[in-house]
Amino acid sequence: MKVAVVKETYPGERRVALVPTAVAALLKAGLEVAVETQAGLAAGFSDEAYRLAGATIVLREDVFAADCILAVRTCGANGDGWVADRDRLRQGVILIGTCDPLSAPEACQEAATRGAVVFALELVPRITRAQSMDVLSSQANIAGYRAVLLAATTLPRIFPMMTTAAGTITPAKVLVLGAGVAGLQAIATAKRLGAQVSAYDVRSVVKEQVQSLGAKFVELPLETGSSETTGGYAKAMGEEFYTKQRELLGRVIADSDVVVSTAVIPGQKAPVLVTSAMVKNMRAGSVIVDLAAERGGNCESTVPGETVVADGVTILGPTNLPAEVPFHTSQLYAKNISTFLLHLVKQGLPEVSLDDEICRDTLVARGGQLVHPKVRERAGLPSLDALCSS
Ligand code: NAI
Repeated sequence: MKVAVVKETYPGERRVALVPTAVAALLKAGLEVAVETQAGLAAGFSDEAYRLAGATIVLREDVFAADCILAVRTCGANGDGWVADRDRLRQGVILIGTCDPLSAPEACQEAATRGAVVFALELVPRITRAQSMDVLSSQANIAGYRAVLLAATTLPRIFPMMTTAAGTITPAKVLVLGAGVAGLQAIATAKRLGAQVSAYDVRSVVKEQVQSLGAKFVELPLETGSSETTGGYAKAMGEEFYTKQRELLGRVIADSDVVVSTAVIPGQKAPVLVTSAMVKNMRAGSVIVDLAAERGGNCESTVPGETVVADGVTILGPTNLPAEVPFHTSQLYAKNISTFLLHLVKQGLPEVSLDDEICRDTLVARGGQLVHPKVRERAGLPSLDALCSS
């Protein structure tokens, strides 16, 4: 099987799906590896490095002639660039990458119509044996780190306490909302920089993790009993809950110099945790980094992809922090995608068995149609079971 790595075309995307050190494992499994010329350049990997690792360097049209295409962004995750890619897809080609299947199912539907077999990496289940394939976690981890660095360089204060001959500086107060993968890394990074850190999450199970990083867990008198799915993600809680939550969080937010917000419910618009009125109550010069910007934002004043100043508070809405440190994010992504691909090969790619949870959860399109129940639902299509029985 010939596997090819495409050069990313999404504006500002500097990552690459496979790095030279990840090539060997694929060759060992009997796969041929081709890489589009300059695909890794923006991430710090030259064509020569891939060649030395045993890959061949090819032009874009050769990438689309391969049996399997590896991408960071494809289908709905590739914005306007998707149209050109779509028109190049061959019947039966296997497409693996992030696809944004739940928010932009129509692009996956187009790939299906072209006869492509599509695997969406966002849908890798959060189970132990799939941990090394989980791109959302590997990328969110780095995003959490970057978010804190952004906050630290934007804040007109320093993070650590300092006792100097010229007086004592008190530490900055950092509040992290949502202590999942990005949030926990944000807590750890802010702690390393010397800030006084607290964090809040609806999933009370994370309290211990927050405390083990040396941060304070903010307890709110809210009923959060059933806030976690079996997949380890948060459940949507209903507007009444969010209103109460905002009321209770108000004082903690007003007392923070930095808020890093990461609260998300998979496949849904992010909950609003910080209203414009709450921003008004913050001290001038405070900073909010809203990692949920691409899902609408946890802060009402966030503008995705932009930095805005409201009532003296700077609100950053970065949408692709992993692309700002492409060397390491590509390295992690490459480990995820190559482990995933080798798993599929073991499961008999292209005819993978749907008895396997990883294959079943990530396979979006096959045989000319969308096959993933949730993606079909988002595309407004009837379930395949309903179609079979009618
Ligand atoms: P995750 O699912 O591990 O963590 C999200 C956390 O938010 C969970 O712990 C969840 O319980 C919590 N949460 C949900 N609703 C909440 C609420 N109402 N109040 C408090 N906590 C709540 O997700 P992960 O992987 O940490 O990603 C976090 C966010 O970062 C996502 O929006 C992801 O898309 C985003 N991200 C952004 C990047 C960027 O460049 N802007 C890059 C990578 C990730």
